[in-house]
Formats: sequence, structure tokens, C-alpha cells
Amino acid sequence: MVDWGEIFTDPEMQRLKPNPELLTLLPLMKKAGCRLVLDAGCGAGRHLLPLALAGFLAWGVDREVVVLQALNARLKSEGAPAHLAHLARADLRRLPFLPASFDLAVSINAINHGDTQTFKDYCRELDRVLMPGGHLFIYTSPREAGERVRLPQTLELEPDTLVDIATPDGNLVHHFPTPEELKAQFPQYQIHRWETVLAPIPFMGDAKLPQLIFWAQKHG
Ligand SMILES: C[S@@+](CC[C@H](N)C(=O)[O-])C[C@H]1O[C@@H](n2cnc3c(N)ncnc32)[C@H](O)[C@@H]1O
Repeated sequence: MVDWGEIFTDPEMQRLKPNPELLTLLPLMKKAGCRLVLDAGCGAGRHLLPLALAGFLAWGVDREVVVLQALNARLKSEGAPAHLAHLARADLRRLPFLPASFDLAVSINAINHGDTQTFKDYCRELDRVLMPGGHLFIYTSPREAGERVRLPQTLELEPDTLVDIATPDGNLVHHFPTPEELKAQFPQYQIHRWETVLAPIPFMGDAKLPQLIFWAQKHG
């Protein structure tokens, strides 16, 4: 069974470019006074590194030990200030942080991993650790993307929750929320962007798939 520990030991996968939508947002977040940032499901650190280098105090959380070990070495070799880049091994369903710990929470291509309940748990935790007034940036594969990665052997375990799909980690269970389903997890938020775009997927050789962008601010 392939997992992200295995996928991210490939050096190619450790050199993926950061998500351009997030990079565009960072100067704005700086201006808005954000300093403490969570990268939920940080993987090989393609966002944690630029976050720390841009002066944010960033925590990367992932459950894969080997991924975090490789990222730790990368942070050192690429000069990320040690006081700004921090790692924690944890499950995104139970984040090891107090409520209202962060003023920006980012989760990119991570909250698809699991079934519908897991997706809801991830969202609940992102909300819990975000301060009132804090910003949330989620980038994920919506139902439309799920439709495009179905294979003849794909099983639909519950609505929009698929296994055995055409992605590098396709043997793992994935939930592909509708845009409305994602928005519904954050009723107390002011939405700044909620849009599906066709975008290259770095883990899939830049093949294009619909991607859902959700940028919102928790009411203060
Ligand atoms: C597709 S990768 C994305 C990594 C990174 N956000 C990026 O965009 O490059 C998904 C990451 O989420 C992590 N992950 C998946 N489910 C998780 C969970 N329940 N708790 C913590 N990490 C999880 C995986 O280990 C993997 O590193």
C-alpha cells in the first residue's frame, strides 16, 4: 500500500513548487498582521519553507515520520530560521494546539485524505485552532476532480468518498467535497474567495484537475 511517507522520499517530490495561489496571498496576510501560521498536512514542506523564509512563525503538521525527517533536514539545508520553522507529528483530526493558536491556517491538498467524517474532523480542528479574525486558506480537490480520477475498479464507499482512484496515493480513501459542503463547515466565516479552478497537480506531473480554493476569515 502506497502512502505519503513513501511518495515523499522521492527527491523529485521534495522539490515541488509551492502553490501559486498561496504565494500570492502571503504579502496580503503579512499586511493583515498574520504571524503565527499552521500548515496542516505540510508534506515535504513546499509551503512551510517559503512561509518561514518570509518571516512567519510557521508550524508544519503531518502524520508521516519519514516525511517530517526529510523536511527537517531540508529546512536546515535551505536556511529556514530555526525559530520560525517548527514541525509536529500529529493527526489533523486532533491537532496538538490550544484553541485560537494561529492567525493563519493553511491546508493544501490534505483534507481530501479520509472519509466524510474525517473531512469534517479536519475542518473542525482548523476552525478550533484559528483565532477570531484569523484567516483560513484551503486548497483541495472537489467532487468534480473526484469524477475525473475514477477508474473501472474505483469503489464509492459513501457519496463522494472513493478508493482505488487514479492518483499517486489512489489506494487510500479520499473524500471529494462539493464546494457547498466545504463552505458549510465554516458558517462563522466571511468568505473572500470560494472558487473552483482548473490547475496543474504537482504530484501528478502537473496534469490539470479542478481545484477548490477557499479563503475565508473567522469572525472576530
Ligand atoms: C498530498 S500531500 C500534500 C502535502 C502538502 N500540503 C503539499 O501541498 O505539498 C498530503 C499530506 O497530508 C498528510 N496527511 C494525510 N492525512 C493526514 C492526517 N490525518 N494527519 C496528518 N497528516 C495527514 C500526508 O502525510 C501528506 O504529507
